Amino acid sequence: MSESKVDPNQGRVAIVTGANTGIGFHTAKSLAQKGYRVVLACRNEGKGLDACQRIRRDLPEHKIHVEYMCLDLSRFASVRQFVEAFNQKYGKLHVLVNNAGINGGYDKPTEDGLNAIFQVNYLAQVYLTLLLLPTLKSSAPARIVNVASVMHRFGSLPKDLSPAALSPVIHTAKRKEGGAVYPLTKLMLMFFTKKMQMMHAKDGVASVAVNPGAVNSDIWRTTHPAIMPAWKKFMGLIFLTPEQGSATSLVAAEMKAPEEDDLVYLSPYPTSRCCPLLLDCVGPFAGANRAQPNPILRREDVMEGVWRVTHELIEQAKHRTAPQTAESS
Ligand SMILES: NC(=O)c1ccc[n+]([C@@H]2O[C@H](COP(=O)([O-])OP(=O)(O)OC[C@H]3O[C@@H](n4cnc5c(N)ncnc54)[C@H](OP(=O)(O)O)[C@@H]3O)[C@@H](O)[C@H]2O)c1
Repeated sequence: MSESKVDPNQGRVAIVTGANTGIGFHTAKSLAQKGYRVVLACRNEGKGLDACQRIRRDLPEHKIHVEYMCLDLSRFASVRQFVEAFNQKYGKLHVLVNNAGINGGYDKPTEDGLNAIFQVNYLAQVYLTLLLLPTLKSSAPARIVNVASVMHRFGSLPKDLSPAALSPVIHTAKRKEGGAVYPLTKLMLMFFTKKMQMMHAKDGVASVAVNPGAVNSDIWRTTHPAIMPAWKKFMGLIFLTPEQGSATSLVAAEMKAPEEDDLVYLSPYPTSRCCPLLLDCVGPFAGANRAQPNPILRREDVMEGVWRVTHELIEQAKHRTAPQTAESS
């Protein structure tokens, strides 16, 4: 990573989390092709540098600025270090794509004491966004793109929304309970998008949520090896390519800013008012269309509950020390 400061007058700046593969890689590549200076925020240096090389190689005729910077969302300390290094070097940010995500492949809590899916998919990306908010505001018009999923429709929140009530799900590392975490993270990310839009659209920082679709990407790497070959064949037939999966993020990054009270949720499938769930799951690629999210997103009381509990959880996680949390389960 070079230490020299980037000229603040040169072009628009974007960050894509989890950009070394899958949907994030194609999002970063397309933004670079459009002239953005793109930071690929990845947890693995080798993979991040390789992704930058591939983008440069794939776009030889373009003047490309891509850079890998280290961001491990399973560690709050890494989030803070990333923001400090990014602000020092770039000082402005026009598009933040919260793309990184996992749906398994963990067997113990993170060093911050949380279920890894919960931390990577939700809490750390919220923390990242809030730390970057002053930079986004000072660069306005700016955009936050949150990569959600059709699975947000299956997320279930306890009535009494508190860290204690969420604890059995967000502090578990067990597979059985863990199955509830992915949909929960995507539902909470949708509420976060709505709250951020309501609070910051007036300052020129708009927030949009997307479903990339069912995509044939590395996210399925934790599928049981016995069924992997059949699953791969199935995905090859039915699922979208990672490039198609990046379409909703790219439209969300550049579309006209929505009104303050408008939660925009884009889907890559044809949409209709009659059966939003079915149409949002799988189908032919149709670009990026506005879709109806889970109706619970109309509930502002639930949104406020999610906002409150998110802040409490960030505070709790920030104050935990690594040695203590490594022991807890
Ligand atoms: N694929 C689908 O069908 C689908 C459907 C709906 C929503 N989505 C969402 O789309 C987004 C992108 O997923 P994808 O399908 O492109 O999956 P992917 O190919 O597995 O890419 C996920 C990216 O997230 C990164 N990541 C994982 N843990 C991280 C951490 N601790 N810190 C920083 N980065 C981390 C991965 O890095 P490594 O390579 O180092 O692990 C990778 O770059 C996710 O938010 C996912 O939930 C996907």
